[in-house]
Amino acid sequence: MSFTPYDRPIRSAFVGLGRIYDLNMRAYLDNPDVEVVALVDPDEARRAQRQADWPEARTFATAAEVAASGLEVDAVEALLPIPLHVEGVVELLGYGWHVNLQKPMCNDLASAQTMLDAARENDRILRVMENYIFYEPLRRLKETVESGDLGQVSGYTMKMVGSGQGGWDVPQSSYRWQLQQMKNGRGILVFDDGWHKLATALWLFGPIKEVRAWVGSTEVFSTIFIDAPTTIAWAHENGVRGVWDITLAPDMYLRSDYYTNDERWEVTGHKGFGRVNRCTGRGIQQPSLEVYADGEMRSYHALDDDWGSSFRDSGRHWLRWLHTGEGPLMWGGDDAVDVLRFALAVYASSAAGGIGIDPAAVDAMEPA
Ligand SMILES: NC(=O)c1ccc[n+]([C@@H]2O[C@H](COP(=O)([O-])OP(=O)(O)OC[C@H]3O[C@@H](n4cnc5c(N)ncnc54)[C@H](O)[C@@H]3O)[C@@H](O)[C@H]2O)c1
Repeated sequence: MSFTPYDRPIRSAFVGLGRIYDLNMRAYLDNPDVEVVALVDPDEARRAQRQADWPEARTFATAAEVAASGLEVDAVEALLPIPLHVEGVVELLGYGWHVNLQKPMCNDLASAQTMLDAARENDRILRVMENYIFYEPLRRLKETVESGDLGQVSGYTMKMVGSGQGGWDVPQSSYRWQLQQMKNGRGILVFDDGWHKLATALWLFGPIKEVRAWVGSTEVFSTIFIDAPTTIAWAHENGVRGVWDITLAPDMYLRSDYYTNDERWEVTGHKGFGRVNRCTGRGIQQPSLEVYADGEMRSYHALDDDWGSSFRDSGRHWLRWLHTGEGPLMWGGDDAVDVLRFALAVYASSAAGGIGIDPAAVDAMEPA
C-alpha cells in the first residue's frame, strides 16, 4: 500500500447517519485535520437532522450519488449496518476513498479477504475502528501493565452484564439488522459487543494460541434469543490466560448515557492487580481505574472515562494519521482479521463442546 499523507485537511464524508454517528462525529468537531464535505444516508430525516451539524456539507442518499457528483472526497466514515459492511466497503474503496469502518468488520474470513483485496486493488487504506483501545482508563491500564508495577501478568478477566433498562434510545431500524445478524449466528453480545472485548485482549497481550468457549442462549422476547450466558477462556502465546464472562440482567436498570453495558476489566499480576470498573454505562461509581500493588491501592479520579470520548480520540487519531502519517493506524484491516479469527474460534470451540481451538486454524471450520 503506497500511502502519502495529505498536506491539507482531509475531505471526508459520513456514510450512514444513524445512532453511532452521534459519537463518531465528535472526532470531526473543531478539528483542523478535516473538512466534512458530504453526508450520506437514504433516510431523508437523518440527512436533515445531521445537516444542522455541518451546514456546509452536501447531502446525498447514496455513496454512488456522491461519486457521480464530482465532489472531491478523500476518506469516509463508514457507519453502515453490519450486513452492509462488505458490499459497502468494496463500493467505497472502489470510488478511491480511504475508509474508516465501524466494527465488527464482517462475519466471516472470506468476506474479510474480499475487503482487504479491495483495499489493495484500489491502493486505499481500510481501517476498522476500535474505540475501546482509545478509552483512557483502558489505556492507563495498559500503561500500568507495561510499567511492570503489577509484576509479571498471569491473568486477564473481563465481565459484561447486558442490562435491559436505561441508556439512550436505539432506533427500531438498528434492531432489525441486529436480528439478521443473530439469525446468521453472530449475536449481539459475543460478536457485536464482543468484538471490542476480544480486541482489548489482543491489544494488551498479543496473539492467542487457544480458545475455549461455551456460548449460551436466552429467549428475551418471543423467538428473540440473546447469546448469554456465555463464558470464553483463552491463552495468549505469551502464556497469559484470559476469561470473559457474559451474563444477562434484563430487568436491571443501569445509568448510562449510551448502551446499558455493565463492564469490568481486571489484570492480575504477581504483585498486584489493575481494574477498570466501568466503560459504556455508569455501573460501579468508584474511580474508573484502580491499581493495587505492594499493599497500596491507587485510585484514578481524573481520567476521561466518558465512553463517548473514545470515539472522539479514535477518530481524531485516524484523521491525524491521514493528514500527517503519524502511526500506528490503530487498527488496520489485518488487526481486525485477528479479532475475527478470535471470534470464530469462540464459535468453533462452543460448537465442538468447548474444546481448545487455535484461531489460526479456523479457516477450515467456520460455522455457517
Ligand atoms: N463502536 C461501537 O461501540 C459501536 C456502537 C454501536 C454501533 N456500532 C457500529 O456502527 C455501525 C452503525 O450502527 P448504528 O447503531 O449507527 O446503526 P443505525 O441503524 O442506527 O444506523 C445506520 C444508518 O445507516 C443508514 N444506511 C443504510 N443503508 C445505507 C447506505 N447504503 N448508505 C448510507 N447509509 C445507509 C441507515 O439509514 C441508518 O441511518 C454498525 O457497524 C455497528 O456495529 C459501533
